[in-house]
Amino acid sequence: MLKTDVLIIGSGIAGLFAAIKISEFANVILVTKKDKAESNTNYAQGGIASVIDKSDSFEKHINDTLIAGAGLCNSKAVELMVKEGPDRIKELMALGTQFTQKSGKLDLVREGGHSMPRIVHAKDLTGKEIERALISMTNNIKNIHVIENTLAIDLITEHNIPDLRNSPLDKRNCWGTYVLDGNQGKVVTINSKVTILATGGLGQVYQHTTNPLIATGDGFAMVYRAGARIGNMEFVQFHPTSYYEPNKNTTAGKTSFLISEAVRGFGGILRTKKGEAFMAKYDSREELAPRDIVARAIDSEIKKSGEEFVYLDITHKSKDEIIQHFPNIYQTCFNSGIDITQNFIPVVPAAHYACGGVKVNEFSQTTINGLFACGEVSMTGVHGANRLASNSLLEAIVYANRASIKIKEMLKDYDTSIPEIPHWDDSGTLSSDELVLITHSLKEAKQTMWDYVGIVRSNNRLERAQRRITNLSDEIEHLYKKTKVFNDIIELRNIISCAGMIIQSALLRKESRGLHYTIDYPNLDDKSKPKDTIIQNREL
Ligand code: FAD
Ligand code: SIN
Repeated sequence: MLKTDVLIIGSGIAGLFAAIKISEFANVILVTKKDKAESNTNYAQGGIASVIDKSDSFEKHINDTLIAGAGLCNSKAVELMVKEGPDRIKELMALGTQFTQKSGKLDLVREGGHSMPRIVHAKDLTGKEIERALISMTNNIKNIHVIENTLAIDLITEHNIPDLRNSPLDKRNCWGTYVLDGNQGKVVTINSKVTILATGGLGQVYQHTTNPLIATGDGFAMVYRAGARIGNMEFVQFHPTSYYEPNKNTTAGKTSFLISEAVRGFGGILRTKKGEAFMAKYDSREELAPRDIVARAIDSEIKKSGEEFVYLDITHKSKDEIIQHFPNIYQTCFNSGIDITQNFIPVVPAAHYACGGVKVNEFSQTTINGLFACGEVSMTGVHGANRLASNSLLEAIVYANRASIKIKEMLKDYDTSIPEIPHWDDSGTLSSDELVLITHSLKEAKQTMWDYVGIVRSNNRLERAQRRITNLSDEIEHLYKKTKVFNDIIELRNIISCAGMIIQSALLRKESRGLHYTIDYPNLDDKSKPKDTIIQNREL
């Protein structure tokens, strides 16, 4: 068994930023399931939104965020994020992050839904630069112990301890995590005073996604199994423009390359396959409307024409400027046969971001004592029904910092009486020789979610998806119980659990709002007060 003051699960921006802050007053173990850099953060392109320029204001950024969130944002949480954002960005820079500058100042660009250019970026590789800087800093801090290739399986709470199993759900505590140590191939118990979930998103629940393979929704599923509250899971954001590559098989865990929103901010025009610009038909903000609107418009054009993609056209801009602003996008497309300075880019929407998640307060505390959640896995309330572009990295640093403030306070008078934690019990379980069940179930789950729980939904489609996901869940639970745990089965179980939560929440919402659009309730429910959908596992 390993012991620490603070255990952090995940090495994206939220986990690393929290680790650096907390190392000032406590020992940290940070576990991450692959190598340190592998995270959604590492692929972030556009940048971080923040009020930097004098012509901008907190009010404008708050207002843009609230408009995108379609009436469901927690305005206090938005205000905290926007007002604390500039200081956190200065800290990122002090930690070594090098953002793109123009005439000696940060180069600020514009993205969809923003009334001002306020996106701080490092060319079109912002996330990679942030990960580089944060990892290099954590490597030099003695009391941060990073353990790679180590996958958290389950949180340790009363439900793991036979004598405490019946304690009330609202009074539960988290004492750490069971992890599968990939280096030794065995399950290890990590006991901590405080645990932070920074496990990122769940894009891999869908057949087409911009998210890398790590984004299997482990944090959401672990928290569900532990009984904390989870909110607004129906609001999965589909990025309007992922690169359409017909020969890329995305059925079993691949990633679609993102064509950043900043390309539209730079003047990119969406066109049908016949070359007609179409966004003006859908919204007066045209290409710079919030993502839910642009993604639905593309979906509608694709359905009307029967084609598999639309085009994004940036050919009217200067070649040098395109290459200078978007070197990574230019090169990636060029390598696959499209010169974006001369050819239109074929694009389709893809699952991108979870706006809902583990419900937390303004200090990132979940409803389980000692358990915090930061970054994409959390639901602070800042995104409401639709996240504004480039607010995710911002939310992650602001709320990781807020978690560290609360944890410092908590550790001062921490009650050290921890019950005896049982070791992981896998007696009687077999090694799996049925890998085909895993790959087929994964394909079926991802395809079901893409076909029936995508951009446009209906009761019929959601109920059909629910029946299929419930079947898959029963089969996988059965297999899981008789198998020695290994990465693929843990991740598949989590993907199926997240799929179930998304469908459950989508069925609870009897209206169309933000990212949740259903043909059975095509309008906002404006008769009742906007409310979050909350789910909680009560069978514990
Ligand atoms: P992540 O960065 O995803 O990190 C999660 C970490 O947890 C990883 O290290 C992972 O390996 C680890 N992990 C997961 N499960 C386990 C487990 N069971 N055990 C151990 N470790 C685990 N947002 C913006 O604001 N601006 C952008 O420009 C932008 N561009 C984007 C482009 C792309 C292609 C993508 C996919 C997302 C983009 N986003 C952007 C969203 C943003 O990048 C993410 O929401 C954000 O990086 C999430 O940070 P995080 O720290 O919460 O999670
Ligand atoms: C992008 O660069 O388009 C991604 C921005 C985001 O997800 O906020």
